[in-house]
Amino acid sequence: MINIAVMASGRGSNFEAIARAALKPDWPGKVSVLICDREKAPVLEKAERFNIDGYYLDPGEYGDRRQFESEAADLIAAHDADLVALAGFMRLLSPYFIERFPDRIMNIHPSLLPAFRGLKAQKKALEAGVKVTGCTVHFVTEELDEGPIIMQAPVKVKEDDDEEKLSRRIRRQEHLIYPRSIELYARGCLEIREGKVRIKPSCR
Ligand code: GRF
Repeated sequence: MINIAVMASGRGSNFEAIARAALKPDWPGKVSVLICDREKAPVLEKAERFNIDGYYLDPGEYGDRRQFESEAADLIAAHDADLVALAGFMRLLSPYFIERFPDRIMNIHPSLLPAFRGLKAQKKALEAGVKVTGCTVHFVTEELDEGPIIMQAPVKVKEDDDEEKLSRRIRRQEHLIYPRSIELYARGCLEIREGKVRIKPSCR
């Protein structure tokens, strides 16, 4: 059984998917803390609903990024978290934070990485005219939206898609692969070798 810390900035649908998965009796994880950097983010109310400790940390209150991250990392450690799951956390994390949790930070991104890194991945996919996009769960490294890929799910782009419609369909897949990736991690099924994630044969 692992403890999971979620960091999020907004709506919190991925947070909710993870919190829901964690309610299943045989699921190997518990969400022990939510950290949010936006005061009125809906994800904070969601944490309350699930009875999960939620903290709003105001980045403006800290002298610099390092102090903000150090406070967040201390809270995560105080909640005994084994894994940090970034779920729509709209802030770049520095090497300091990443080194505090080596190979223990995951992120979800709304494209099939390495395509369409950064913000507005769904809009970029529409502009590029790709026929298939999707979402990716990966371990976090110092490079933006890079790091060993754990799982991906494809989503077909439709002729009449707009950003909102496409994002909604991608999110549905996110809500499946994020809890599943965390579950694989918690069961000790993931191995990182030469920058690639391997799912152990006994877990497939
Ligand atoms: C998702 O699209 C995720 O891929 C991206 O941020 C969004 C978060 O959505 N990293 P939500 O707050 O989980 O609903």
